[in-house]
Order: sequence, then structure tokens, then C-alpha cells
Amino acid sequence: MTDVWSYKDKRVVIAGCFSGMGEACARELVRLGAEVHGVDIKKSPVDLATFTQLDLRDIPAIEQAVASIGGAVDAVFNCAGLPQTFPATDVVGVNFVAIRYWTEQWIPRIRDGGAIVTVASNSAMNYQARLALLKEFIAIDTPDGALAWIADHLADVGDGYGFSKEALLVWTQMRSVDLIQRGIRINATLPSPTATPMMKDFESLTGKRILDLFALPSGRQSTAEEQAWPLIFLNSAAAGFISGACLPVDCAFTGGVNTGLIDVGKLVAAARANGDHPSK
Ligand SMILES: NC(=O)c1ccc[n+]([C@@H]2O[C@H](COP(=O)([O-])OP(=O)(O)OC[C@H]3O[C@@H](n4cnc5c(N)ncnc54)[C@H](O)[C@@H]3O)[C@@H](O)[C@H]2O)c1
Repeated sequence: MTDVWSYKDKRVVIAGCFSGMGEACARELVRLGAEVHGVDIKKSPVDLATFTQLDLRDIPAIEQAVASIGGAVDAVFNCAGLPQTFPATDVVGVNFVAIRYWTEQWIPRIRDGGAIVTVASNSAMNYQARLALLKEFIAIDTPDGALAWIADHLADVGDGYGFSKEALLVWTQMRSVDLIQRGIRINATLPSPTATPMMKDFESLTGKRILDLFALPSGRQSTAEEQAWPLIFLNSAAAGFISGACLPVDCAFTGGVNTGLIDVGKLVAAARANGDHPSK
């Protein structure tokens, strides 16, 4: 009988395997017996089957990286991302446009029963408030066209982070409808604040005390591993009937917000009134 939890002999690719959640995924997948191929702008510290240096801002290089890894794959893990300390065009360019293009390059190579998972963010949980705009953006299916749209809509895009993650959630759900006809699943996660190298960027912008409000009610940041394990589950055969899911990995934050038990807007306003600001 097939072991639905097993990654033994599965061939997987990971975008963003240098640090944080992607590195944690890579380490655990190697331990589980997968053949792991990784790409990142910086060399991964994990002992992978292959590592390919790739700057996801370089769209033609994405195709070359996919061709050089080559072959068929069982699972695609999208963990690369940029915080909003970078220019908005780079943030949306990497977090959505490049991740989408990289994934689309892999889709013809994904074996029947294979799966894709992408890390979004709990900062994207209100995506439905601007669904029409996000769908307008997602309807542009070329990287050049999408980058031109971003340049024309900088006021909508803002700092790029929330917009890019909202776009990932909408694209994941829309793409799931077609892909399941080919036997491919696609899902996303919405992590709460996580102790990875990106955290210092978030803290420099938002301030630790305000960021900590997004770590309620558990009162702590997750570890990279606590984010990696659900990603590995979603791409395993054990999640064989899960597709188009946007899974909060936030230890009850979404539950609290959805039921009105946690009112982040009110808490942030109170913290600001109390003199909290990004330097704290
Ligand atoms: N840390 C958090 O609190 C948090 C919360 C929600 C969502 N996320 C998301 O989780 C994902 C993983 O981030 P993390 O927290 O592990 O941080 P991280 O900085 O450790 O990981 C990001 C990875 O992306 C790679 N990367 C960045 N720019 C790249 C480029 N141009 N080309 C190729 N690779 C590039 C980095 O080298 C790194 O390996 C990101 O998409 C991030 O937006 C993080």
C-alpha cells in the first residue's frame, strides 16, 4: 500500500532555499528522502541534489533554470519572497509575477498527482475587499504585461507586499479549478510573523510591538520549521483531496479575527495612541 506521508524518491523543486521557510523545507524534504532541487539568489546551505543560482527578477533566467534542472517533478515549493523594504515593483515582481511564471514553467513537467504550494501571508487575508482589481491584474498572463500594469497602478499596489500576497491567493484559487482536471493540486499558506531573516525588515518598518499584535493569541512568532511542515503536508499525497486552499498557519489568529474576538485595527490604533511606533 502507498505511504501517503512519504516523500521517498519524490522529485521536488524549491524556490527560496537559502534561508527561512524554504531552507527549512529543503532540509526536511532531504531528510524525508526526496530528491530536492533548489533555486535562490543566494547559495543554499542544504545538501541538495542540485542548486541553481537564480535571481527571480530575471524572467528569462527562470526558463533557463527550469530547463537546466529539467525532467519531471512531483512537487513545487514556492518560498522565495521579498519584504516591502525593497521597491514595490521588485516586491510584486518577485512575490507574484516571477513566482507565477516559475510555476507555470513547471506545470507541464508536474507528474499526475503532483502538487504546488506557495507561501502568501496573513497580511493578505482581506483579499476579497479588492477581488475585482486583483482579477484584472491576474488576467494579464505575461510577465512583461504584468510588470507594465504594476507601473501604471502604483497607487493601488502601495508598498507591494500585501498586494503581491493577495494576488497569490486569488491566482492559487483560480488556477486550482483548471489544474485539478490534470490531476495537479495547488494551495497556499498564510503565515503569521515568523522568526526568519525577513523579520528584521518587517520590524524596521512596522515596529516589534505592533507586529506582535499579528502574533496574537499565541503571543509568539512561529519558527521556520512550523511553517515548513504544513507546506510539506499540502504537497504530500496525504493532502490528496485538498486543492485551492488558502491555509492560515497562524495559531488561531485568523480564527480570532474572523469571529471578532481579535480586532487588529482597534489594537493597532490603541498601540499607536499609546505612543508605539516603528522604532519600538
Ligand atoms: N517571516 C515572516 O514573518 C513571514 C510572514 C508571512 C509570509 N512570509 C513569506 O514567507 C516566504 C519566505 O520568507 P522567510 O520568512 O522564510 O524569509 P527569508 O528572507 O529567510 O526567505 C526568503 C528567501 O527568498 C530568497 N529570495 C529573495 N529574493 C530573491 C530573488 N530575487 N530571487 C531568488 N530568491 C530570492 C531569499 O534569498 C531567501 O532564501 C516569503 O514569501 C515571505 O514573504 C514571511
